[in-house]
Amino acid sequence: MSEQIYVGADHAGFQLKQKLVDELQRLGYEPVDVGPKTMDPADDYPDYGRPVAAAVSEGKAARGVLTCGTGLGMTYIANRFPHVRAAVAWTPEIAELARKHNDANVLVLPSRFVSEEEGMEILHAWLDTAFEGGRHERRIAKIDA
Ligand code: RB5
Repeated sequence: MSEQIYVGADHAGFQLKQKLVDELQRLGYEPVDVGPKTMDPADDYPDYGRPVAAAVSEGKAARGVLTCGTGLGMTYIANRFPHVRAAVAWTPEIAELARKHNDANVLVLPSRFVSEEEGMEILHAWLDTAFEGGRHERRIAKIDA
């Protein structure tokens, strides 16, 4: 069975979200698209960040992907949920470090600051990089302490 990855956006991230869903499908994942399903400038990031973060927090899915204009609003909402470590990444290197050092289980992309191509590279880096553990394990544990 393929891994389910929850995906959501607001209006600013809508177009990039469509590409992320397609790319996850192409890579053999099962994206669960919480919306929005159409472009609506009145969409607000908490309404779509919350179901993605809740799914990861409750263990329904191991990972989630969010996008909004700066990535900040989605990161704020996602990191309110226990066990969620949401990282905004605007380069593949940051996505790699967010996995290696911070075990980021939610990737947040700033749609207004990355091209579609960059977004896909960042997604690949995050998907393909493992948590290093070791000294980072202790630091992660302290977040929820
Ligand atoms: C929407 O205009 C924008 O404020 C939102 O996408 C995001 O950048 C908020 O953090």
